[in-house]
Amino acid sequence: MKIAVLPGDGIGPEITKVALDVTIAVCKKYGHELNYEYGIVGADAIDKVGNPYPDETHELCMRSDAVLFGAIGHPRFDNDPTAKVRPEQGLLAMRKKLGLYANLRPVTTFESLVYKSPLRPDIVRGADFMCVRELTGGLYFGRPQGRSEDGNTAYDTCVYTREEVTRIVTLAYEYAMKRRKKLTIVDKANVLATSRLWREVSREIAPAYPEVETEYMFVDNAAMRLIQWPTSFDVLVTENMFGDILTDEASVITGSMGLLPSASIGTHTSVFEPIHGSWPEAAGQNIANPLATVLSAAMMLEYAFGLNEEAALIRKAVDASIDKNIRTQDIQVEGEKAYTTSQVGEWLVNFILSA
Ligand code: IPM
Ligand code: MN
Repeated sequence: MKIAVLPGDGIGPEITKVALDVTIAVCKKYGHELNYEYGIVGADAIDKVGNPYPDETHELCMRSDAVLFGAIGHPRFDNDPTAKVRPEQGLLAMRKKLGLYANLRPVTTFESLVYKSPLRPDIVRGADFMCVRELTGGLYFGRPQGRSEDGNTAYDTCVYTREEVTRIVTLAYEYAMKRRKKLTIVDKANVLATSRLWREVSREIAPAYPEVETEYMFVDNAAMRLIQWPTSFDVLVTENMFGDILTDEASVITGSMGLLPSASIGTHTSVFEPIHGSWPEAAGQNIANPLATVLSAAMMLEYAFGLNEEAALIRKAVDASIDKNIRTQDIQVEGEKAYTTSQVGEWLVNFILSA
């Protein structure tokens, strides 16, 4: 198995190192041969070669079996609206070129961290759902996009084809079949033509999955239901922009953004990354929580290599570290000593090797 490691910006290199160490440990334990190669991406790549997703990085991804990704983004670009190249363009280019049309973001609750949620414990306890976000269509990629000649009018275009909707909704049904067999299809069909196509296509697919309970929900209502009744969701599927917004909302429900992994899958190599950003203020300080990236590595072993037992061992190590209070500052119990990023990594590696 060969993986491309793209650490990216900010805390990316620190958290990716931990996830890679954990992956190496688990491969050693089970006797799998692991090859990995580093590539550059994001602001780091802009600084080095002037392109946030250079061709060499794309080629590396294409010849690998999976991509382990850290984070990208730098405030230098956020505060400069005139910047011509931005780190985020690298991420979008990667998604498009690798054909990563589905972004899977599982949201699970850790009982011992429920009190960290901004919501009442009785609301979040037991929440366990999967957001399936369409990732290569909609407003992010629709053309035309731009400004009128006088600069006073701007436009984005939301485009979806029947084919794009079919593949993502079908994939969501497949996940629902493997889980609790409930699918919530989120759209704005009362206003948008693209949403009406989503609903039409979904209604055609639904009969093929008679065991799955299908629920159609407008996105504004879904935003409300997510915080009011998060345990009512099993699998949720939606278009790119709605998914971007709802998954940020969903990520804080459990009170631990530093714990949530993701997988982006599609036509070519799949990418596994934490859902949080590059947290530039903490870069190099060895304080960031590596668990979201470690859990992304677990998703990688499962989805890209079918190594379910190995992934389960990583999750067991993560659960044990939380139970034993081997936690970084963001999730540490008040008054208890916080562990550094690398200390958490070392603890996980020891747990895995001695399991
Ligand atoms: C995400 C991010 C990206 C997105 C940005 C960085 C382009 O917010 O992965 O959710 O909007 O898709
Ligand atoms: Mn986002």
